[in-house]
Amino acid sequence: MVIAHDSAKELRDYLAYLVNTGFSEIFLPVAAHETKQDDVTDEPDAGVQLASIREKIGDCRRCQLCKGRTNLVFGEGSPTSRLMFIGEGPGADEDREGRPFVGRAGQLLTRMIKAMGLERSQVYIANVVKCRPPGNRDPEAVEIQTCLPFLQAQINAISPDVIVGLGRIAAGTLLGRRVSLTKMRGNFHYVNGIPIMPTYHPSFLLRKEPDRKWKAEAWEDLKKVMTLLGLSVDAHGDSK
Ligand code: URA
Repeated sequence: MVIAHDSAKELRDYLAYLVNTGFSEIFLPVAAHETKQDDVTDEPDAGVQLASIREKIGDCRRCQLCKGRTNLVFGEGSPTSRLMFIGEGPGADEDREGRPFVGRAGQLLTRMIKAMGLERSQVYIANVVKCRPPGNRDPEAVEIQTCLPFLQAQINAISPDVIVGLGRIAAGTLLGRRVSLTKMRGNFHYVNGIPIMPTYHPSFLLRKEPDRKWKAEAWEDLKKVMTLLGLSVDAHGDSK
């Protein structure tokens, strides 16, 4: 592989940044033609990689969000899942429990996953930032950038077939640019070969109730994800 001079400098700066934020190794994505299950390499399996990422995060003090947190919320689910959901950041319930999407929005997300014919334990759920922004404010750019290498490492370890970005912040972070969710949702956007489906955040859907237009649109997005994964779309209902 030939790396252009500018790209090489950017890569060097990025690696230096990773080292400064506590990384001593990076996790490269498995090439698309390699199967996950039959992988006969000496690469540690996804569960081991995730445990190692969690260990590296440690009792994180890399940004100011550490000051207000009760628990760091790493993420949970199947390390070999083909489907990842990525939200914005923990809320009060998640901060208390140390698990992602366990409050009201989480209960709706769980229903959405079930409506897809899946169990929560079959997918992987994580957030852009791993500590609760005070008062549930949007995470700041510096907080997102500080936490992002860990999310990228999680994505590389799991190597999902598709990622659902929940809400503007998650979708924008995954796509590496500001997004208008209404314009971006409904279509797959490819980043490093992984299709990303931006859709509405469950909290937004709850705020919009009882207007069902938004849930219906989110369900259309999830049906596209199901089709991509080869799941039967007809057999399942919506996420009421
Ligand atoms: N909202 C999020 O974005 N993530 C959570 O984990 C919970 C609520």
